[in-house]
Amino acid sequence: MNDRLAQLRADFARELDTVRAEADVTGLRDRWVGRKSGLLTAEMKNLGKLPPEERKTAGAQLNELKDQIEAALEKLQRDFAAVREAEQLVKERIDVTLPGRHIAAGHLHPLTLLRERIEDIFVSMGYEIEDGPEIETSFYNFAALNIPANHPARSPQDTFYLAGEHGKTLSLRSQTSTMQIHAMQKRRPPLRVAAPGRVFRRDTPDATHNPMFYQVEGLLVDRGITLGDLKGTVEEFVRRLFGPDTKTRFRPSYFPFVEPGAEIDYTCFKCHGSGCRVCKQSGWIEMGGSGMVHPNVLRGVDIDPEVYSGFAFGLGLDRLCALMYGLDDIRLLYENDVRFLEQFT
Ligand code: PHE
Repeated sequence: MNDRLAQLRADFARELDTVRAEADVTGLRDRWVGRKSGLLTAEMKNLGKLPPEERKTAGAQLNELKDQIEAALEKLQRDFAAVREAEQLVKERIDVTLPGRHIAAGHLHPLTLLRERIEDIFVSMGYEIEDGPEIETSFYNFAALNIPANHPARSPQDTFYLAGEHGKTLSLRSQTSTMQIHAMQKRRPPLRVAAPGRVFRRDTPDATHNPMFYQVEGLLVDRGITLGDLKGTVEEFVRRLFGPDTKTRFRPSYFPFVEPGAEIDYTCFKCHGSGCRVCKQSGWIEMGGSGMVHPNVLRGVDIDPEVYSGFAFGLGLDRLCALMYGLDDIRLLYENDVRFLEQFT
């Protein structure tokens, strides 16, 4: 029996050596300790043929060998499982130190950025920001702004009128100056209001024109307001917008709703007045119109021009935005081409 056991042990050891894959372990188990046809199972069955005095020891020895075989197979199985797990971990490894994938974040439009900067300046100077209608009656668009019935600004060549039965009286505002009227109707002086918004004119689009663009209107009405207050306010405004060394100049001009009226220029924010490409070598950039609110306009909203006076000024955002960002065509601002907008992140 001892020889037989030694033989079995050696055979198993040899076969164990040939195991290469996990499936081989299962094969080996069936072959050696399988319930039905396992080699050791057969040996056990043969025990009965041994003389009774040998049977007990042989049985114990066979059992011991069976335990050893099962233990060896189990260990091998565990080794395979460990290797499998290690391979899985390698496969699933992530390097948390790698830079993340860039996610494009949204951002504000350059015109919005500029408008917010301007609003902040107005607010810091005590103005309230107000929004108003883009479709107006001819009262707000023209009559209340002292624009006479025969004025060319009223012509359909310049102004967008609405189609249909309201087309005679309703049109898109062509300037934020309409907001002067709304502001003065809503509140009594003293008042300070700034009104940013879209305006519409029947211009043919080109590099410096678009039928829709943005303006900001500033209005102040109080007792004893003079042209000096207008100049001082505009000077402070451009200093806050373009820097403390910015200078302004006023050129007499005509707008029906102010008297006197003036165009405002400021020294170029790029060259500070010496002349460059931005200001076309002049040293100056046009900002917009301004003036003292016309007595007719005050009277139209029941403010007594003998008691109160005020000033207004307006500026266009689009050309300013184009100059500040070095754009050679303001239409880029309305096309919403992502390749263009992405530059402003
Ligand atoms: N509304 C005028 C324009 O569009 C500018 C302006 C505003 C002029 C306020 C005087 C006072 O040109």
